[in-house]
Amino acid sequence: MSVSTAATDQTVCAPLPVLGRDVTVPLVTGGEVTYAALDYAASAPALQRVWDDVAAYAPYYGSVHRGAGYLSQLSTDLFENARATVAEFLDCRADDQVVFTRATTDSLNLLARALPAGCEVFVFETEHHASLLPWKDARVTYLDAPRTPQQAVRTLEEALAARTVPIEGGHGPALVCVTGASNVTGELWPVRELAAAAHAHGARIVLDAAQLAPHHPVSVRDLDVDWVAFSGHKLYAPFGAGVLAGRADWLREADPYLAGGGASRRVTRREDGGVDVEWHESAARHEAGSPNVIGAYSIASACKALTEAGFDTLVARERYLIEKVRTGLAEVPAVRVLSLFGDDAPRVGVISFVVEGWNSSHFAAALSAEYGIGVRDGLFCAHPLVRTLLGGAPENQGECGAPEAAPGEKSLNAIRVSFGAGTPDEHVDRFVTAVRELVTEGARWTYRTQDGRCVPAV
Ligand code: ALA
Repeated sequence: MSVSTAATDQTVCAPLPVLGRDVTVPLVTGGEVTYAALDYAASAPALQRVWDDVAAYAPYYGSVHRGAGYLSQLSTDLFENARATVAEFLDCRADDQVVFTRATTDSLNLLARALPAGCEVFVFETEHHASLLPWKDARVTYLDAPRTPQQAVRTLEEALAARTVPIEGGHGPALVCVTGASNVTGELWPVRELAAAAHAHGARIVLDAAQLAPHHPVSVRDLDVDWVAFSGHKLYAPFGAGVLAGRADWLREADPYLAGGGASRRVTRREDGGVDVEWHESAARHEAGSPNVIGAYSIASACKALTEAGFDTLVARERYLIEKVRTGLAEVPAVRVLSLFGDDAPRVGVISFVVEGWNSSHFAAALSAEYGIGVRDGLFCAHPLVRTLLGGAPENQGECGAPEAAPGEKSLNAIRVSFGAGTPDEHVDRFVTAVRELVTEGARWTYRTQDGRCVPAV
């Protein structure tokens, strides 16, 4: 909150070109405006550079790892080179594996399937569901929400110190799963310190970088994490791929995530009528089926584009936008921004808030219908965290269509605005103006509930 807007105006870079920047949408009140995509935390628009790279490659598309033709060879090279680019982007160790998955959720489910027998998992209740839920077959310890980064480290240390499943000569395997940046508050988690705590207690750690990688450089070596997971669709490469990168041993020793061609090196018929399979030990072990070469290539393209733009520059621009939004929201007394670690916590461009007297679904619908602004409302696939931040909203309320919270009552869900490298100033300026106008003047249209969501009553 210390950046001067005047000074920053002269120094921040322009937004990176993204698809959809000129798309216009109709307003219920008449006319059209360019769409302000402010839901990057769910899905960021494709970088123009990514789209251009994909379009240039598309005519050369061919099968990966399963064809003798020129285009198959070319596509296989592109796919394998994408692995190398991602490894470089994440500053992986030389012997780490990069597995292409469908998204972060898929990556963490894959890791959950690769846990060694008896593995204990430690996860904060503040995680979004992709990190909170995949561990159902393990012995999971859910850690209480910390209110400072230091408390997060202490909580983890205490939990690891109290591990109850000793094996001969020490403890069994354990894994800590932690997000790098919250998809609700945007706040950064103390990943390096948590990794040190995990390792000091003989545990491993996986970093959920879904919300971090699009905003900050991620170095596996510097953070000393064992795995990193992220999604292409939040990294400006929405072509259905994601990444799990890190230690090869647990992945190599686990059964393939999916059984099928590509994962298998040799399949033979046994004399008793059954089938023997020799699985690959490389990343291909967990990539059965035809690989998503366009998805992988688009992620590699995004990694290169962000690296070339320079994270120092991108982070400076994002801080400038965060400052604009937070200052604008602070000037509207009815708005309460949700935070776990407090105002001064370092954060990415993800901000959730509630507006006194408004149902969040209604507010989000009005932002869309009357201002052409796309945000997300609800509990953001992080139900325990948002309920904690809302002060213990009732568990039995649906995400949408809940009655409006009267002044003084607890909100049942929240509104989230999120942005990144492609966001122009005008989008966040329009958002701040819209929030102020809706709060002071009210909605100009009427809304009704349809299928659990607020929609304009046209
Ligand atoms: N975790 C994604 C989000 O926050 C789905 O929108």
